[in-house]
Amino acid sequence: MTSAKLLSDLKKARQAKNLSVLDLISTENLTLNDVELLLNLAGIFKKFVEGGAKKCDLLKGKTIINFFNENSTRTRSSFELAGKHLGADVINLAGSVSSGKKGETLGDSARTLDALNADILIIRDANSGAPFQLASLIRAPIVNAGDGWHEHPTQALLELLTLRERFGNKKLTYLFVGDALHSRVFGSQVRLYQKLGFEIRLAAPATLIPKGIENWGVKVFYKIEDALPGCDAVHAIRLQTERAAGKFVATGREYSKNYCINPARMALLNKGGVVLHAGPVIREFDLRTEVLESPNCLVQQMVENGLPIRMATEWLIATNPKQKANPWK
Ligand code: CP
Repeated sequence: MTSAKLLSDLKKARQAKNLSVLDLISTENLTLNDVELLLNLAGIFKKFVEGGAKKCDLLKGKTIINFFNENSTRTRSSFELAGKHLGADVINLAGSVSSGKKGETLGDSARTLDALNADILIIRDANSGAPFQLASLIRAPIVNAGDGWHEHPTQALLELLTLRERFGNKKLTYLFVGDALHSRVFGSQVRLYQKLGFEIRLAAPATLIPKGIENWGVKVFYKIEDALPGCDAVHAIRLQTERAAGKFVATGREYSKNYCINPARMALLNKGGVVLHAGPVIREFDLRTEVLESPNCLVQQMVENGLPIRMATEWLIATNPKQKANPWK
């Protein structure tokens, strides 16, 4: 696909529509129109990338800053690549080497990056709510690349794109397994899938179930074998040991024995049912290798879809004609 064809397909799909939000912090305030727009454009970007013509200049002259204060492999590399494929100038800053280490506050670091005329600030931070707090402090739109226990909206969108490729628009019966309490991926997905009318289930030990989750329309199970029958998809949530989740289970061994997705458990899904995981996967603990290597395990497709989802996100955010209020004036 040429850049001219890409632009023409994007314009046709976009029809002058813009996201209803100026920052992308949560899936909660995305409208269904926003979700469809992001997925449609991601589908076009995916064809463009798969066609081998990776570079275009849709964001030429724009500056995107990836500010990652927590470890990341797939999110950071795909946001960076997305910006580069779109022709933007991309700066990557890791918290471990930033002036935050010398005592600068997160707000002051963000203001500093804003003063460099960033067009988007993409942030990952261990503190829940950090992107929300920064959004009112700076002029540049913020994209949340994962904040603490709260949300990871583009991760939810890339999984939805993967599910749409397999199931179309079917309203799925969908099971989360594991550490929902500390998972920002769960936070974004549950908000998104509720909007889409999925039947949502959760199987986890009582200590890892967020309080009041039934009020979000989630049906709770303690035994995974009771939850799997009738499901189209199961998403294994990693035990978030970086958030001390290990202290919420008696032993890792017992947790894995009860909740790891193995071939026998996978076989309880509906025919054609799929296994999902946001990554990084802890082999033999979250998923057995036989499951990870099954054609119905969509982990690799999810990683691939991260790139077009982040291209669509960056393009829509950077070209939204509505501007945020400038806190500097
Ligand atoms: N899914 C996810 O956020 O992975 P990374 O931590 O590798 O970015």
